[in-house]
Amino acid sequence: MKSVVVLGVTGSVAAYRACDVARELMRNGFEVRACLSRSAAEFVTPALFEALTGKPVLTDVFDEPVKGRMAHIDWARDARVLLVCPATANAIAVLASGASEDMFTTIAQASRAPMIMAPAMNPDMYSSIPNQENLAKLRDRGAVVVEPLEGEVACGEQGQGKLASVGAIVAAVLEAGYRSNLMAGRRIVITAGPTRELIDPVRFISNRSSGKMGYELARAALQMGASVALISGPVALTAPAGAELVRVTSAQEMKDAVLTAIQNADLLIGAAAVADYRAVAVAPEKIKKSGDMQLRLIENPDILSESHRARPELPIVGFAAETTDHERGAKDKIDKKGLFAIAMNDVSRRDIGFDANENELVLYFADGEVTLIQKSSKFNVAVAMLERIATRLSW
Ligand code: PMT
Repeated sequence: MKSVVVLGVTGSVAAYRACDVARELMRNGFEVRACLSRSAAEFVTPALFEALTGKPVLTDVFDEPVKGRMAHIDWARDARVLLVCPATANAIAVLASGASEDMFTTIAQASRAPMIMAPAMNPDMYSSIPNQENLAKLRDRGAVVVEPLEGEVACGEQGQGKLASVGAIVAAVLEAGYRSNLMAGRRIVITAGPTRELIDPVRFISNRSSGKMGYELARAALQMGASVALISGPVALTAPAGAELVRVTSAQEMKDAVLTAIQNADLLIGAAAVADYRAVAVAPEKIKKSGDMQLRLIENPDILSESHRARPELPIVGFAAETTDHERGAKDKIDKKGLFAIAMNDVSRRDIGFDANENELVLYFADGEVTLIQKSSKFNVAVAMLERIATRLSW
């Protein structure tokens, strides 16, 4: 089956240019399936796109080209890439809010495929604060925006708002299509979140990890075609659709789950903040207050080191949460734990690292390569990190 691009055409004068984009995508080997919003159908007709693409065109959420099959789910699953071209300010707002108001936005909700947006509108609408905020939201979730060009727009005004060139839009789709296949057939085990080490039935030792970094790595790996086992400590997040979620509480439980999951894995990534110590003994009842007390701790097993011992040939990527002497701290862990690479984040900063929505990493490889992954949403950081790792593994 050819790679499918689901093309959402929304109501801008530039809708006619989506025909050229569809043709060029087909020339590049894609199957194009078009969805027209009601306002797009005021500018161009479904029959035009049907003739161009040779496929049924959807305009209504109840359209059902294959009787008895829900098209919005089938198309969402089949899509390698979602492309909104042209994207109006309204379509951008609906997609940013997560609402489903027509067939394309319903498909987008149900799909795990990467999304490309090619906006076209009046320059003042494009630069307006709500539109820019909506685009920023979509970018943080991994959408790629093919910026509109400067020039005279349909209403006669000048500024940035003209649909980008067909070449630029098709290049963005090709890039997303390539990326979405980068980990196809690979099985990746990812740890996320904190561990909890009980002291008594109501108290535990833990840390500030929210699990966001590990969950975004899982989402990004799924989007790149991998199958993902996500081994998660206690967090308040929903696992990405398609991930095989294993919930654990303590470091010992996480170690057991990881050693099982890596048996048939191609890559292990340790984003979890595993407690280094646990109580020597867990009190069976709540400890009563009776003046100062001492808590005896013993060291937890090191999950990544044990994984390396169990499968020395498995590439393992750790994370280093450092507050001082960042480079040396990270590099020492490569040797100690037998890692292929380590992603260092400076957890003394409040804007990145623990519980933040963004991160910034320095990726140190065992062979000396150093790659800086610039500050961005944890999803975008995860994509950049996985891309580099897949390339280094010659996948
Ligand atoms: O969860 P978030 O709020 O999104 O925050 C993300 C994060 C800051 C937790 C994440 O980016 C991160 O840095 N995770 C690793 C935290 C950590 O435990 O770092 P470390 O330097 O102590 O450990 C080094 C590596 O060894 C880590 O990959 C860790 O998973 C692993 N480890 C640690 C201890 C242990 N007993 N077993 C291990 O496998």
